[in-house]
Amino acid sequence: MTSPHASVALIGTGLLGEAIGLRLLQQGITLHVWNRTPLRCRSLLDAGAQHVEDLASVPQTSDVIITVLRDGPTTARSVAALGDLAHHCLIPMGTMGIVEIRQLAEQTKQQGGQLLESPVLGSRPQAFAGTLLLMAGGEPSLFERHQPLLRHLSERPQLVGPVGSGAACKLGLNQLIASLTHAFSLSLRLIQQADVPVETFMDILRPSALYAPTFDKKLERMLDSHYDNPNFSTALLRKDLLLFLEEATAAELNPEGLSGLATLLCKAEGSALDGVDYCALHELTGSENSQ
Ligand SMILES: NC(=O)c1ccc[n+]([C@@H]2O[C@H](COP(=O)([O-])OP(=O)(O)OC[C@H]3O[C@@H](n4cnc5c(N)ncnc54)[C@H](OP(=O)(O)O)[C@@H]3O)[C@@H](O)[C@H]2O)c1
Repeated sequence: MTSPHASVALIGTGLLGEAIGLRLLQQGITLHVWNRTPLRCRSLLDAGAQHVEDLASVPQTSDVIITVLRDGPTTARSVAALGDLAHHCLIPMGTMGIVEIRQLAEQTKQQGGQLLESPVLGSRPQAFAGTLLLMAGGEPSLFERHQPLLRHLSERPQLVGPVGSGAACKLGLNQLIASLTHAFSLSLRLIQQADVPVETFMDILRPSALYAPTFDKKLERMLDSHYDNPNFSTALLRKDLLLFLEEATAAELNPEGLSGLATLLCKAEGSALDGVDYCALHELTGSENSQ
């Protein structure tokens, strides 16, 4: 069992990684942190974390290494730079593809270590509160060993199957984030065009079976075109939707209905919409963006 005060290394202190790190520190975990841009470790160092200068030194600090990096390729490169991982457990928490996480598990094995994928649903507020929904994939014994650590971040971490199962669940959920946000955005625009008051529409939608809490969560941002201070960016939602499409195609599903949404999200690439809250995809559903 991981002792409550075990030392943990955290690689990647972006929006989610920072929140995860602050939660672990607040829970009494000794934390060593590395980030490509060291400035983004500042709040964690202020809260008591120790900085690791280079990736190759990370394994000397801790047996458990959590990664919260942008994507699969970034994680694979960073893990390669760690070198020998004998007696270490790698816990990737960033979102990646099913094939990518399986390859990473193989790579970790070749570096002498073990891997427990642990992608999460929820964002910074849930990380701070320890209420992330965590879907682990890997060996049951490994999951059992690291459950005490995972419980600092998630009230009920779930082992959903072997490596790859967590990624499948996570991509399934993020497809819903993209699709629900897009569907709501279009409906909202249509009723506004027809001069129906938004509150009238919401009064009908809220008690219906079609309602999703995310609609109200994003409504104000969409109405005000206010997308600053994101918890999760448009660029990363696009990354996850493209991963979903890739996996769905490999699984011989018919993802045609989603391709248009992917094309729409690709219009944000390189624009100011990329770095802001993902519900900025609402800016793409207006008439000026139709072909
Ligand atoms: N934010 C959320 O609510 C949320 C929720 C669930 C899952 N996730 C997933 O968690 C992961 C991190 O998300 P985030 O929101 O924290 O993203 P973020 O704020 O953009 O942070 C991305 C992290 O990846 C690092 N990175 C990017 N490119 C790199 C490269 N080429 N080499 C080394 N490091 C690189 C960044 O380092 P720099 O600081 O140097 O750029 C940063 O540490 C993603 O897979 C995302 O899909 C996020």
